[in-house]
Amino acid sequence: MEDMYFDDYMRHKSYGSGGYYKSSLSVNEKKDFITSPNISNFFGNVIGKFIAEKINKRFNKESFNIIEIGSNDGTLSLHILDYLSKFKNKIYQKTHFFLVEQNSNLEKKISKNLYKHKNKFTICSKLEEINSENKNSFIFCNELFDSLPFHRCVFREDKLYEILISKTNTKYIEIEVEARTKLKEKIISLNMDIESNFFFEFPSDEFFEMVKSINNIDNNILFLSFDYGDKKNILGTSKYPNGTARTFHNNKVGDSFYNNNVDITYSINFELLSKEFIFYGFNEELFETQTKFLIDNSFLEIINDNIKSSSLDNVKLKNLISPAFMGEAFKVVFFSKII
Ligand SMILES: C[S@@+](CC[C@H](N)C(=O)[O-])C[C@H]1O[C@@H](n2cnc3c(N)ncnc32)[C@H](O)[C@@H]1O
Repeated sequence: MEDMYFDDYMRHKSYGSGGYYKSSLSVNEKKDFITSPNISNFFGNVIGKFIAEKINKRFNKESFNIIEIGSNDGTLSLHILDYLSKFKNKIYQKTHFFLVEQNSNLEKKISKNLYKHKNKFTICSKLEEINSENKNSFIFCNELFDSLPFHRCVFREDKLYEILISKTNTKYIEIEVEARTKLKEKIISLNMDIESNFFFEFPSDEFFEMVKSINNIDNNILFLSFDYGDKKNILGTSKYPNGTARTFHNNKVGDSFYNNNVDITYSINFELLSKEFIFYGFNEELFETQTKFLIDNSFLEIINDNIKSSSLDNVKLKNLISPAFMGEAFKVVFFSKII
């Protein structure tokens, strides 16, 4: 292997041929980490309720699309469609659903999982493939941004460095080299503080291109996103001297970036995400923890209504809202742009 910058390495490991996110196994089947829709269908039910309320209020009875980006095997979309068909049938009848998943090896699984909604959805591999006359789109994603390639950086004595990886016969060596000009210019242009000597991650092009593609849809857009992370106008913190980059394998968190078959991820800086959406004229309407979002949007009522009809796994459900697990670490952000 030639020397590679960390973001190129991650791009190759996650999205190159044979990469982690090119597998025909879904995230759930891989069992390296669990995402909220794979914990319980109530997560998607709450989102379905939120989507229906916003569509009723904001799209003025006009026709609309509902779009999931990074759907993996379609589990979250399934739970949303199930909810809409059962409880918000008027919306369901009018909905056309798009699942945008870059991994075409999952298409068959998506179609199988969503079979009962078979005339309601289209699978695309990128947002640009969506072909629709509708002028209103509700777009959502769960753990999309944290799976995109990123740089690992550190600021020392007025200079920005990034990690370059060099491979010898037996091991990978991380070397700090002066950051490339494009990366330096991007970071400077954002006017954020940087804490010296602490590593931080900075998203690579895919993050910025994603926001641009969402904006390019050129519709009235409501956008809801769930991810792990925090909101602060600073890059680097003493809380995580080595940054937040980490790996997941067999449900264990680690830093074995150079092992095969690990998921590489990091915590999203929501300030950066907001800056991008605001740059394109979006309004930030909500930023809060997943716990607050779920509770404010009838999570407990939805569970109560289902207590008799299904066997509830209380431990799993607690994981969705518990401060010690996903509830506080995961954040929700909601942007709107009504043209
Ligand atoms: C961490 S997984 C989350 C999967 C699912 N949303 C969930 O919560 O279980 C990230 C997903 O985003 C997909 N993805 C990454 N970049 C994408 C892109 N540019 N367009 C569409 N999907 C993308 C990956 O293939 C993967 O399925």
